[in-house]
Amino acid sequence: MMNKKILLMVFSTIILFLLAINLNAEDGHKLWLRNKNIANVKVSCSVTSPILSIAKLELENGWQGKDGSSVLFSIKKNKLIKGDGYKIALNEIQANTDLGILYGVYEVLRRQQTGRIIKDEISNPSYERRILNHWDNPDGTIERGYAGLSIFWHMDKSLEVTENDKKLWQEYALANASIGINGSVLDNVNSSPLMLTKEYLQRVKSIAEVLRQYGIRTYLSVKFSSPSLIGGLKTSDPLNSDVIKWWQEKVKEVYSFVPDFGGFLIKANSEGQPGPQDYNRTHADGANMLADALKPFGGIVMWRAFVYNPNDKDRAKQAYNEFMPLDGQFRDNVIIQVKNGPVDFQPREPFSPLFGAMQKTSVMPELQITQEYLGHSTHLVFLSTMWEEFLNSDTFQKGKGSTVARCTDGSVFNQKYTAIAGVANIGLDTNWCGHHFAQSHWYAFGRLAWNNKLTSEKIADEWIKLTFAKVATEKNKTPYSDKNWQKNFLAPVKKVMLESREAAVNYMMPLGLHHIFAGNHHYGPGPWYAPKGLRADWTPPYYHKADTLGIGFDRTSNGTDAVSQYHEPLHSQFNNLKTCPEIYLLWFHHLSWNYKMKSGRTLWDEICYRYDLGVKQVREIKKTWETLKPFVDDERFMHIENRLIDQCANAQMWKDGCLQYFQQFSKKPIPENIEQPLYPLEELMKKDFTRK
Ligand code: GCU
Repeated sequence: MMNKKILLMVFSTIILFLLAINLNAEDGHKLWLRNKNIANVKVSCSVTSPILSIAKLELENGWQGKDGSSVLFSIKKNKLIKGDGYKIALNEIQANTDLGILYGVYEVLRRQQTGRIIKDEISNPSYERRILNHWDNPDGTIERGYAGLSIFWHMDKSLEVTENDKKLWQEYALANASIGINGSVLDNVNSSPLMLTKEYLQRVKSIAEVLRQYGIRTYLSVKFSSPSLIGGLKTSDPLNSDVIKWWQEKVKEVYSFVPDFGGFLIKANSEGQPGPQDYNRTHADGANMLADALKPFGGIVMWRAFVYNPNDKDRAKQAYNEFMPLDGQFRDNVIIQVKNGPVDFQPREPFSPLFGAMQKTSVMPELQITQEYLGHSTHLVFLSTMWEEFLNSDTFQKGKGSTVARCTDGSVFNQKYTAIAGVANIGLDTNWCGHHFAQSHWYAFGRLAWNNKLTSEKIADEWIKLTFAKVATEKNKTPYSDKNWQKNFLAPVKKVMLESREAAVNYMMPLGLHHIFAGNHHYGPGPWYAPKGLRADWTPPYYHKADTLGIGFDRTSNGTDAVSQYHEPLHSQFNNLKTCPEIYLLWFHHLSWNYKMKSGRTLWDEICYRYDLGVKQVREIKKTWETLKPFVDDERFMHIENRLIDQCANAQMWKDGCLQYFQQFSKKPIPENIEQPLYPLEELMKKDFTRK
């Protein structure tokens, strides 16, 4: 009897202890949606719908305004409100659509939860379609995924829909809706024909049913050769009548499963993927055939411009070379999806010259939310600043101010559809994104897709408050208004986030260097990497062109003339050494090691200085993080701290590897005021950076 009592006591002490630990722990699963209501609100609306019910519930569950307030949801035509935009006021949310009301609700909550006032204001989305591209494979793995396996597809390929699946999809959909994302492509651009089979479409239907509740449309990546691979046809030639018929039937079938299906995303004739060129047809022939099949159902084709047919010596020119001649030949339900830079999601690239140049075809930007080239989910690198730089780049195509943002959101060109895509960083990890700070990219993508004029400063401010502030439990005690918290947590974290991308550029690829990773992992340094048999334009020496005379890729009129793909005055500005921005210097110019930089240093010394600065910046970030312990729960604090330790080590390897390798050509000493290398070059050259 006694023993039983003791056992019970021990047991309850353990439970209490575990609970106590847990109180101080947050696993990040709730993302930026941690706040709960601290007051009551009464919602009135003259109509009902599933989305409006969710909107009502969300407002009630998160309300932090005046206790006992009444809010009216009013759906009426207002010409100033576009698409799923909304108007918010103190006691009213107005929209043309149910979804607009839901977005208005999230804006009201966001303002309450970040301490901003609610005044009469209209907000319209910059892009009509704000889409996540999941590079998820049918076997549950994710191409360039750093946060575990897929939330859509199982490793054992089982297609059974479990309660757990549904719960996760619902959480995912809600998180997307809260930041205005309204589309998801469920599978990898390197797609499997399986996706279009009945069994898989059945699961797609189940996913779409959950996503639809939150206003998210479902899209699929499809394989161009599907007619031959799963349709039993001898060809997939887009002009063949059987192929055309096959796609028409297939599209009809897809819509029978998903009536509001969004459309197809296609990677064709790129990196070994099949496409119309296999049949001597053009991208336009391929895209239009699919567009025609989708048209009766309102679907679109997002045809990717990430192609590189090695006709031109310079890979950076290839997408423009292939697509510009086709401008004007695409159907109006085709959108050309163009990566932000001309090469491939590098830490820094100038914008792709296709933006603003393709004027008779709809064009949409593709950003990469997952950090393939920016330290995976190990490095703390806030990507919003990179996207802001990109969106604000002036293409000059229709005079000054023709920014990429304005050239793609319908302000400059009349596009039937406007859209923006982000390659998702979401997986089964409890915190969804691997690194707690990687959640901020997902958040930033949604916010920028809604409003491409937002600043990263504002986005970071919101995200930090929503993600890290103590959850408000009482009125007037909202943590973001705490001066100490603002000064000693919010301000330093914001500074860290806003500087983090520049730090990464410095320790990986400063001054316009690009694509100098070892191997296919795209994590560690590898300016030396050039295994026999690998296409030259996939190897780092092709990109940096270091030799005893200097370093950099000559894309001027004396070199590959990639500069001529840009509109004046950029063409001349990039071409001329005196006016080329130093951030793009080695992207456009091959320069002597002794070239005098604006700082007065030689190019060699400047390269050394930049790498060294990058390493110091990350160490500073880590130091700052350590001062923040009192403000963060232990679980997230340690998680981030451990990653910062790895990031510091990796940054050091980048610096040591690149400097010692380039030194073999420059034959110059690493300046004395710069920390000398720690890791021997031979060791780094042998190191396997592949994620285990
Ligand atoms: C990069 C990436 C690939 C991806 C490709 C694409 O090359 O490394 O994994 O498939 O981009 O965007 O199609």
